Amino acid sequence: MPAFQKCINIDCSRTYGIEEVHHACPACGSLLDIDYEWDKLPVPNRLSHFECYWSRRAEPQRFSGVWRFHDLLPFCPIDGCVTIGEGQTLLQQADAVGNQVGLKGGGLHLQYEGMNPSGSFKDNGMSAAFTHGRLVGATRAACASTGNTSASLAIYSAVTKIMRAIIFIGSGKIAYGKLSQGLDYGAKTIQIDGDFDDAMRQVQEVSKKLGIYLVNSVNPFRLEGQKTIMYRVLEALRWQIPDWIVVPGGNLGNSSSFGKAFMELHRLGLIDKIPKLAVINARGANTLYQLVEKEGLRWNGGRYDRGVVDRFFQTMDEEGRRASTIASAIEINRPVNLPKCLRALEFCQGVVREVSEQEILDAKAQVGAGGLGCEPASAAGVAGVKKLVAEGVIDHDALVVCILTGHQLKDPNATIAYHGTDRVFFEETLGKRGVTEAGYANRPVSVPNDLERIIAAVE
Ligand code: F0G
Repeated sequence: MPAFQKCINIDCSRTYGIEEVHHACPACGSLLDIDYEWDKLPVPNRLSHFECYWSRRAEPQRFSGVWRFHDLLPFCPIDGCVTIGEGQTLLQQADAVGNQVGLKGGGLHLQYEGMNPSGSFKDNGMSAAFTHGRLVGATRAACASTGNTSASLAIYSAVTKIMRAIIFIGSGKIAYGKLSQGLDYGAKTIQIDGDFDDAMRQVQEVSKKLGIYLVNSVNPFRLEGQKTIMYRVLEALRWQIPDWIVVPGGNLGNSSSFGKAFMELHRLGLIDKIPKLAVINARGANTLYQLVEKEGLRWNGGRYDRGVVDRFFQTMDEEGRRASTIASAIEINRPVNLPKCLRALEFCQGVVREVSEQEILDAKAQVGAGGLGCEPASAAGVAGVKKLVAEGVIDHDALVVCILTGHQLKDPNATIAYHGTDRVFFEETLGKRGVTEAGYANRPVSVPNDLERIIAAVE
């Protein structure tokens, strides 16, 4: 296939074959992209071309919400693409939630990635990583995770048997729904006495030493798969381009990948408008917000100020600051895809905001009441929309798509603590994080086992 790996550092730009396995550019250590010789590829001349695959849903790759867009990520022949049925997702017009965040009717759409086989958007990228893993003959795959990447790796391993799964997690740092998935799917689970960043550092070392295939989002193939989230959004909007894409930011794989998707669609002449991108951090894990909005860090055509980044992390270490948020999925200090995200923000004229724990949980309850529940990290995006509308950055009549990255059942503790009546549990789970109220709580009603009293409670 006319595809190759390419270093994103504009002063290096070295290229490598698809059959090679790298977690970073061997020459300069920067992140790698997957790039294509588009002029040698049969690229469709309009996006509606993809509708012709709808009638071929009996073929597993055309059923897949990732591989039916194979023309836009053709690094492996389509017969070799791994699928477990990912990407059967839904874009829901969410008027009630839209109203609460200040948007007009029809303005807010929620892209529900919780419908993926492992319950999060990670499956989009994992199908691509497994495709590459099989291509290079890998037999073991590893990741560090706040829980969703690990659940995704574990399910792909269990279903396809292509690579055995080894997952590295920070002890006590991942929500039970996610931990239970990895265990149930039979992944070797290594609990490290540390947080995600510790696990991430260790897994990179271990994979290098033992020759294990790494499926974290430093793997550029992962991000190819995640581009398709944007293709499905456009498809659901019947190829209309929204004004804004809003996404929670953790390791910054999604935002990077969305930016790349739009860069390529634009370069290929398939879109003439570029949506704006908003990346939302939790206040307790706000590296990107600090760097972009406070330090003024910009991609700057590829010449971003590395000194600012180095100094930021040095101070973080000196002061012993560690990420801490109820949105455990995005509880990350050092986002590995930072440069790619800066590039995406530049291309999509992006902004970054931080939201509080209270805002996250209130938004989560509003999303749940609207019918598509999500985990706390996903709700950060919705809370971010509310903030940006209030600031006047997003217009009231804008068309906004917010990515609900993970399913509600991933983190039942956060939900129960918010809605429940157990004050001690509320304090332990949310109160100590600065959440003072549960203004959108739907409290369960406790009654004795007595017909009259039950009827009284129902009425
Ligand atoms: N939302 C959810 C539900 C996630 O699981 C993650 C990341 C993010 C948002 C952030 O996405 O990293 O692309 O900016 N979870 C990773 C994991 C880190 O290990 O599961 P990002």
